[in-house]
Amino acid sequence: MTVVWRLVLLLLTAAPTGAPSLCSYSVTPIKFGFRIEFSNSPSGDYNIAITEDGRPDIKNTSNVPVSNQTSSHDIQGLKPCTEYKHHVTFLHSDGNVTSCSGSNYKSTTTEMNAGDVKEVNSKPGHVCYQTDWDISSLQSTQSNISPQSHGNKTFCVKPDFNDICSDLVFTSKNCVNAAFTLTKYITAEFLNPEEIKQIPADKLPAEIKAELPPNCNNLSIKYTCWEDGRDNELKTLSELEPFTDYSCTGQIKDNNVLIKNTSALHFRVDCDLTITVTKSSPTNTSVELIWKTTSQKCEDDNLENLSYFCSYENAHRTLGTKLRSGGKCNISGLKPFTKYKCKVQPTYKHQPLKDVTHQDIKTDVGVPGPVTMSLQLQEHNVIKVTCETLQFNGPEKIYMLQVSYGSEIVRNEQRINKCNFVFDNLRYSTTYKVKVTAFNGKLESAPKIESITTNYNDKAVIGFLIFLIVLTSLALLLITYKIYILKKRRTRDDNRDEVFLSTIYSCVP
Ligand SMILES: *[C@@H]1O[C@H](CO)[C@@H](O)[C@H](O)[C@H]1NC(C)=O
Ligand SMILES: *[C@@H]1O[C@H](CO)[C@@H](O)[C@H](O)[C@H]1NC(C)=O
Ligand SMILES: *[C@@H]1O[C@H](CO)[C@@H](O)[C@H](O)[C@H]1NC(C)=O
Ligand SMILES: *[C@@H]1O[C@H](CO)[C@@H](O)[C@H](O)[C@H]1NC(C)=O
Ligand SMILES: *[C@@H]1O[C@H](CO)[C@@H](O)[C@H](O)[C@H]1NC(C)=O
Ligand SMILES: *[C@@H]1O[C@H](CO)[C@@H](O)[C@H](O)[C@H]1NC(C)=O
Ligand SMILES: *[C@@H]1O[C@H](CO)[C@@H](O)[C@H](O)[C@H]1NC(C)=O
Ligand SMILES: *[C@@H]1O[C@H](CO)[C@@H](O)[C@H](O)[C@H]1NC(C)=O
Ligand SMILES: *[C@@H]1O[C@H](CO)[C@@H](O)[C@H](O)[C@H]1NC(C)=O
Repeated sequence: MTVVWRLVLLLLTAAPTGAPSLCSYSVTPIKFGFRIEFSNSPSGDYNIAITEDGRPDIKNTSNVPVSNQTSSHDIQGLKPCTEYKHHVTFLHSDGNVTSCSGSNYKSTTTEMNAGDVKEVNSKPGHVCYQTDWDISSLQSTQSNISPQSHGNKTFCVKPDFNDICSDLVFTSKNCVNAAFTLTKYITAEFLNPEEIKQIPADKLPAEIKAELPPNCNNLSIKYTCWEDGRDNELKTLSELEPFTDYSCTGQIKDNNVLIKNTSALHFRVDCDLTITVTKSSPTNTSVELIWKTTSQKCEDDNLENLSYFCSYENAHRTLGTKLRSGGKCNISGLKPFTKYKCKVQPTYKHQPLKDVTHQDIKTDVGVPGPVTMSLQLQEHNVIKVTCETLQFNGPEKIYMLQVSYGSEIVRNEQRINKCNFVFDNLRYSTTYKVKVTAFNGKLESAPKIESITTNYNDKAVIGFLIFLIVLTSLALLLITYKIYILKKRRTRDDNRDEVFLSTIYSCVP
């Protein structure tokens, strides 16, 4: 008996632990949420808190008025097929609260029906639904995106780039029946041009790769471009030139109907030119260069408007002649037998390009420059010749001399590097012709010819003079002797003076 009593007592006291609760309620799932029905509860204000299991967000309704012992309150905007914990408290007028019996139990919402959701058009580029459910728990089957609350019972989702041109399907993973799905075909209109990746290929003819959503098989993009600053001259990709800045936009067409334009894209291709001199033909005053131009990035046709300038010593520009995939030029005005660094400078529409090529060349042997000569009589019959040329224009430096008298060649001489000749033993008082040329091993300069006359024979004159002096001395001796004889005779005969003197005079020639 006592055991049975104790069990009954235990059962009576255990359930509500002590005194029966001040208030109690029951929860019934209804469309969009729960209905809370109060029973045996005092009139006044209650607080209803609904918590999704394991999530921090709480649906909290404060100051719910309960005016009668049997009153109910609907909580809507909950997620379908979702388990919630509920907690209801009575709010005392002094601020104290009392939990109602039934609190902290769990209930699960109902499934959704197709009619519960209405598609609305409230945000561009988004798919929006209006419903009393909280559909933020739905997930798209392809890309795991969920609608986000947008206020006013509206939920919107921005389709993923890859969802475009395919069905966007939402299901609730909680609803086991899964009878309900939201399906929306995402048209190409949802395409945001900013999201299209555009990759210009660094080559000519021009190409721009645009990444469209994978399912949009009927979409195509046609690009038009314009040179910066000339947006009224539209060009297709195949018309684009190298070394030029363009802006391009693509017209996105759905079965040839224009739907959108892509964002503008900068396009420029700098062809990587390789200029190879294939032939250089020097003369003694010019050189002809022939070169080939190749490019990995650009085709020959795209290089049609290239032009070339040849120069040397960073000056003396000459315009080259265009040949098929290359060009040639004739650099003239060069000095013979001289090394030059020649430059081929490509330009595109007056804009010099960096792909310059240098070629070392040496001009051919030329005629040696003019010779200067100076002649000097070193002695009466010795001629000294010095001469010089400033340019030999060739590998060797030889001076060649010829001394002639009339048609008779008297001497022929050669000297290397220096021109310093002495011709002796020549004839006295004779006019000689001296001819000098410079020879570089291949070519000979114009001759320099001068004449010079040797002096009289000085040795013969001196001999004659000595003879004259001896003769005069002898004559003087004779005169002195004769005067001495006369003086002796005068002492005897003074009168014959005049006659004798005239005799002496007649002796002088
Ligand atoms: C719910 O609201 C009441 C009254 O405004 C507040 O006292 C209580 O802390 C709230 N509960 C939660 C979990 O926010
Ligand atoms: C309580 O509700 C019943 C019917 O639901 C109504 O007849 C009664 O008058 C109500 N009492 C008060 C105090 O409002
Ligand atoms: C409020 O509650 C506390 C303890 O729960 C109690 O001590 C106090 O007397 C209550 N106040 C009123 C006005 O009932
Ligand atoms: C909320 O939606 C309703 C119906 O769609 C509309 O009439 C109302 O203007 C909207 N309110 C706001 C603030 O958007
Ligand atoms: C593409 O175009 C074809 C023919 O116009 C049409 O039958 C097909 O439905 C279109 N596909 C899409 C995804 O729009
Ligand atoms: C796209 O660009 C073309 C010109 O390139 C213009 O005529 C057309 O209006 C643009 N379309 C849109 C949708 O912006
Ligand atoms: C060369 O320039 C002319 C004039 O600007 C242009 O019309 C032509 O298309 C250009 N050719 C190439 C291959 O770019
Ligand atoms: C280059 O020009 C020079 C002088 O203008 C000329 O003598 C020479 O023959 C030319 N060379 C060629 C290959 O045309
Ligand atoms: C170049 O060589 C030719 C013969 O090969 C010659 O006639 C011409 O005068 C030379 N010119 C110069 C500047 O040396």
